[in-house]
Amino acid sequence: MATDSFETAPAVLGTWPTPLEAAPRMAQALGLGSNDLWIKRDDLTGLGGGGNKVRKLEWICGAAVARGADTLVTCGARQSNHARLTAAAGARLGLDVVLVLAGAKGGPGSGNIALNGLLGATVAWAGDIAHEELETIALAVVDQLRERGARPEFIPYGGSSTLGARGYVECGHELLRQAEDLSQVVTAVGSGGTMAGLVYALGTRRVLGVDCGAIRDPAATVAELVAGLAGAPLAPEALRIRLDQVGAGYGDLTDPVMAALTMAARTEGLVLDPIYTGRALAGLVGAVKDGGITAGERIVFLHSGGLPGFFGHPATLSRSFEAFTEFSPTES
Ligand SMILES: Cc1ncc(COP(=O)(O)O)c(C=O)c1O
Repeated sequence: MATDSFETAPAVLGTWPTPLEAAPRMAQALGLGSNDLWIKRDDLTGLGGGGNKVRKLEWICGAAVARGADTLVTCGARQSNHARLTAAAGARLGLDVVLVLAGAKGGPGSGNIALNGLLGATVAWAGDIAHEELETIALAVVDQLRERGARPEFIPYGGSSTLGARGYVECGHELLRQAEDLSQVVTAVGSGGTMAGLVYALGTRRVLGVDCGAIRDPAATVAELVAGLAGAPLAPEALRIRLDQVGAGYGDLTDPVMAALTMAARTEGLVLDPIYTGRALAGLVGAVKDGGITAGERIVFLHSGGLPGFFGHPATLSRSFEAFTEFSPTES
């Protein structure tokens, strides 16, 4: 298999396996049987606040260290969880980290931004540009660092290289050990590597991706990553990706996502984020409504992390705050 041909061992950054937990109250709220819905807790991967990127970074950083890198360079949205976890991985491994982030200096320093500072990363602000252009700027930073005598390693947007996706091949195998009767796993699709690894491990039919609006053509991107893992092409049409949860764009908080965040919190005490996991759960709700997911199946929802992003999203913070009920004292 092509995946066995990677030469370097992964760095150990996370805590494995992550738990697979039953979500009976959420299952019932969705009209499923109480044993049908399980949560794969990849928010509990351990490093730097946790999340899916830790699995990818183990492979990417293992290769970087083997090549003698002293600096990690990556790029992402202003509230990128991948950037924050790259900063954490660098700290853990004693490597410098440079993050090329969309947006400008100033504005709210909340959520992942504050954690990047705490973790010691250097940030280059790139303005409001698309991810392809962010990668171009990050590659220019790599050149500049090299000229200064550093040994930088470029990590693509979202850590979604074939090597990074290897982390989610492992997650797919881990899931089969935890739930051999797994029928479908539902995951957010950002840069695509998480879905690609799961598809490689579990096949196209058992993985439902929910696009989050981070990239232009999620099916083509995921198919290319799966092809890189498999060493054989995959038709993008073979993938199951819902495109109906993006709303007005990547940073938008939609009503179905707010409803999904509220349901997860109030049925299971589970906190999701508005950009990735909230969209993934809203997509799962949509799939139950259209019959793509039915009672009696073993459904796994991948909780891929992103909690700092909740605290970096002002609309979600104010709608959550407005939702609390104030105690009414008994009138005497
Ligand atoms: C919390 C969270 N979940 C899911 C994803 C999507 O993963 P991928 O980029 O591999 O598609 C991301 C990507 O940034 C993320 O931060």
